Amino acid sequence: MRKSILFVGLALIIASCGESPKKENKGFEVTRKKEVAKTEASSSEVPVDLSNIGLGPITSYEFSASVDTDLAEKGKSIYAGKCTACHLVDRRMIGPALKGVYDRRSPEWVLNMLLNTNEMLQKDPIAKALLKEYNNALMINQNLSEDEAKAVAEYLRTL
Ligand code: HEC
Repeated sequence: MRKSILFVGLALIIASCGESPKKENKGFEVTRKKEVAKTEASSSEVPVDLSNIGLGPITSYEFSASVDTDLAEKGKSIYAGKCTACHLVDRRMIGPALKGVYDRRSPEWVLNMLLNTNEMLQKDPIAKALLKEYNNALMINQNLSEDEAKAVAEYLRTL
């Protein structure tokens, strides 16, 4: 008799585990998140901080007053080969749209993102927020030299 009561008790516990309310909550959260991602072009959770220069080899960088077109042209071909798999000019794809990037990031931050991608994604508050916003899709370090990165950065001014 005691054994069968124990059995019924166990069965009840197992059955109640099956319809755990936690699971339902999780499902709801996932659906909600997707909707947020669909309706908002860029999330308000990703900070805009032009005083953040990021982490990496570039501690100070000033653009020339007007775009250096030769440099931008060089950057354009590097960009076409190494960036367009993940980035569009004015729509998010695997990564963010890059038009107007200097309205939200400092030139130093962009250069460090290009030259020191992995550490940026691990430690920089903006890069970490972006990583979350882009569902943990990792921007892959493209092994650019500093000169190449500066050329690409110049090209981004023209978008
Ligand atoms: C494999 C895909 C991939 C490639 C290739 C790639 N990126 Fe990214 N990029 C991303 C993703 C994804 C993010 C957002 C951060 C994250 O989730 O890693 C990002 C973020 C950025 C940001 C920050 C944008 C913002 O709104 O702050 C810049 C700038 C950037 N990438 C430039 C470039 C450039 C320039 C290249 C080419 C040299 C490049 N990326 C190559 C995927 C990529």
